[in-house]
Amino acid sequence: MPTPTTNIKYSEYFTRFSVIIVTGGSSGIGCSIIKAILKIRPQVHVCNLSRSKPDFFLGENGTHLPVDLSNAQALGEAAQSLKARLTHAPKGEVLLVNNSGFGDYGRMPELDIDKQLNMIDLNIRAVVDLTARLLPTMLDRGGVVVNIASTAAFQPTPFLATYGATKSFVRNWSLALNEDLRGTKVRALAICPGPTRSNFFKAAGFKTPPMGRGANKGLDMTSDEVARRTLRAIAKGRSIHVTGWKNRCIAFLGSKLPIVVVTRVGGIILSKMRLEEHRK
Ligand SMILES: NC(=O)c1ccc[n+]([C@@H]2O[C@H](COP(=O)([O-])OP(=O)(O)OC[C@H]3O[C@@H](n4cnc5c(N)ncnc54)[C@H](OP(=O)(O)O)[C@@H]3O)[C@@H](O)[C@H]2O)c1
Repeated sequence: MPTPTTNIKYSEYFTRFSVIIVTGGSSGIGCSIIKAILKIRPQVHVCNLSRSKPDFFLGENGTHLPVDLSNAQALGEAAQSLKARLTHAPKGEVLLVNNSGFGDYGRMPELDIDKQLNMIDLNIRAVVDLTARLLPTMLDRGGVVVNIASTAAFQPTPFLATYGATKSFVRNWSLALNEDLRGTKVRALAICPGPTRSNFFKAAGFKTPPMGRGANKGLDMTSDEVARRTLRAIAKGRSIHVTGWKNRCIAFLGSKLPIVVVTRVGGIILSKMRLEEHRK
């Protein structure tokens, strides 16, 4: 089991990683995590998995594997390629960040069911599948599996019903995985960001990102801030981290108040977030 550090100077902690594998590093939180790690450890072997190529330098040892992770066969091929790369990579631990994901705002049954099922494939299936395929190598080398969940994981989320449920899965699965891995050289961490400035809201069908206003006032962060907090949580050996104290209060209330009340209040707040006028 990697020894976590208790002080905030986490840069030294990351020298143990020789390889970092990030899904969805082409934008937003994944992109910020890669950049933050490269700043600390420029020689690390970065491997990004997403459909589009990141438009920034992945480092001298960086690779981009173009893959649609919602496609099980494509994921299997990418994992094979990753495993082959890992056999040639320098000694050291592996950091796997399962970050790719998307949401879809709207009311059932008006939503496109294929998109909802695709979301389940990406937000849930791909996380379990990629982790399972890489774990044997990680158990030999040591490492950390970071799963990007959300504050949406703490209560039902009307109008983002499927998305919130996928993130509850990721949070619970990650915490349980961490227990399964106790006594090994690998641990798991669930990161639960609140509203974060990225492409997420546009991809989810919001007309304008609900940032810095209404119910989200004071909760939103930049993806760089989420990445910084993620790295600190990794170095501190956390098994779960909700980004920011305001988000932590909301997550706490969401999990402690009667679920029927929380769902109703969530429905009222989320119904006010406007949909794009012409959905595809
Ligand atoms: N933004 C927020 O408010 C927020 C809050 C809590 C949690 N999160 C979570 O944070 C994670 C990152 O989201 P973000 O905010 O950074 O949004 P983003 O900017 O839209 O990034 C999403 C990433 O996922 C990748 N992706 C999407 N579909 C994919 C597919 N089929 N196969 C492989 N990769 C795919 C995208 O790359 P390509 O398009 O190039 O494939 C992109 O790099 C997600 O899991 C999201 O649920 C976001």
